[in-house]
Amino acid sequence: MASYTVRPATPRDCADILRLIRELARYEEMENDVMLTEKDLLEDGFGEHPFYYCFLAEVPAEDATPEGYSIVGYAMYYYSYDAWTGKSLYLEDFYVMEEFRGYGIGSEILKKISQVAMQHDCSSMHFVVADWNQRSINFYKKLGATDLSKTQRWHLFEIPKNHLVKMATEE
Ligand code: ACO
Repeated sequence: MASYTVRPATPRDCADILRLIRELARYEEMENDVMLTEKDLLEDGFGEHPFYYCFLAEVPAEDATPEGYSIVGYAMYYYSYDAWTGKSLYLEDFYVMEEFRGYGIGSEILKKISQVAMQHDCSSMHFVVADWNQRSINFYKKLGATDLSKTQRWHLFEIPKNHLVKMATEE
């Protein structure tokens, strides 16, 4: 593959972002759990107070997929705050289409994200990986990641919206 660029997403990219979100969810065998719409992505990422940011990897038109897709990878991230160490970056999603893997695109995306983290003086980057996704775990470990569920014995919890509504409205 000749070349690619990694750039921040714009409002016009929401259809591609959603397509890639669905592909990553399919890779994780959870595609039916994607509830998000293009409208959500537009409102949540490109309003006055963005809830997420996104880098996209793009190849020239001649290297696009047979379906005509030239946006072939993405990473979605946002900022969080660690009560011990301060500003932190949370990597929500990270994905490169299968036929474009192994060319350094993923590493370049993470380089850009690391640069953003450094610009904001973040102390760390957090993310979750499925325990079966050994290739990605190895990839992250080579970059210096540690598995906090092992070293700190932390587990990721979620309170779903119906329970939040209950708590929020309980007399
Ligand atoms: N297929 C191929 N390579 C993979 C995979 C995979 N499923 N998962 C991790 N890798 C590793 C390879 O082992 C390779 O490492 P090596 O060169 O040391 O052998 C490395 O990725 C390749 O490096 P790059 O070319 O820079 O990365 P690439 O462009 O292939 O993108 C990515 C890496 C995003 C992990 C990609 O492989 C992918 O989309 N995998 C499937 C989806 C996934 O697992 N995403 C991460 C989920 S966790 C999260 O989102 C926070």
